[in-house]
Amino acid sequence: MKVTVVGAGNVGATCANVLATREVVNEVVLLDIKDGFAEGKALDIWETSPINLYDTRTVGSTNDYSKTADSDVVVITSGLPRKPGMSRDDLIATNAGIVKSVTTQIMEHSPNAILVIVSNPLDVMTYCAYLNANVDSKRVIGMAGILDTARYRSFLAEALNVSPKDIQAVLMGGHGDTMVPLPRYTTVGGIPVTELIDSETLNSIVERTKKGGGEIVNLLGTSAWYAPGAAAAQMVEAIVKDQRRVFPACVWMTGEYGISNMYLGVPVILGKNGVEKVIELDLNDGERELLSQSEKAVREVKAVLDGMNS
Ligand code: LAC
Repeated sequence: MKVTVVGAGNVGATCANVLATREVVNEVVLLDIKDGFAEGKALDIWETSPINLYDTRTVGSTNDYSKTADSDVVVITSGLPRKPGMSRDDLIATNAGIVKSVTTQIMEHSPNAILVIVSNPLDVMTYCAYLNANVDSKRVIGMAGILDTARYRSFLAEALNVSPKDIQAVLMGGHGDTMVPLPRYTTVGGIPVTELIDSETLNSIVERTKKGGGEIVNLLGTSAWYAPGAAAAQMVEAIVKDQRRVFPACVWMTGEYGISNMYLGVPVILGKNGVEKVIELDLNDGERELLSQSEKAVREVKAVLDGMNS
């Protein structure tokens, strides 16, 4: 199995490193437009193989898409990251051009690839990739839910002083401040989280989760990479190993939850065909209202992209 990661910046390089270290596939190609950058990162990762004991080959490429040929999965991380004071939506014009060009070149060389999009604004950049890939929507998926639930789960683990491994959660909506963590579907070793934590603490964790990306931007002056890179690698693993894992992911909506004609985060089963199934939860009125606010926020950004394309 072969995976390409486009963009050798912090997120792309972290994703490639996780894929290699965990031997998810036998070859990882890292591609970037900056001269020598992907080659340097790929070589540095490869040089950890005798230490970390894996044999996945990592190959770098400066914008030579022929090296990406016949990839099974392609992760697209290209684009500018956020700076303090910017929302993810501020990146749309620049990143849409980049995602379009990358997607077109990738599909020329890997027509059967499944695409995992990481570029921001996530929901609309996934839509942008879908518009340019000309493939079934099941094969173009955005990475956000695993990252956002990982933040939520890690905050809960800290508050409850338990292992993050035992915290299961689902979250819906766009990858932005309107995302909808769902406490009613959050469990700790099978126990509903609401039985273990007071509502004030839980609410503050939900609010912190929604702004989790911004918290890192404010600390670092740029956006996060360890958790986003690891989250994208986990999606790749579910696909190439046909694990049928249940994750929230950004997918093309065709009437589920009463929503269509847009990309949005919902729980899905991920396997060898990409999105194997969208799972429909029986949301209560409050949850439905929050999801509809998030849908509206993403639709506004989508309208900007549609306006640029018309
Ligand atoms: C974040 C960026 C990657 O949430 O969107 O950290």
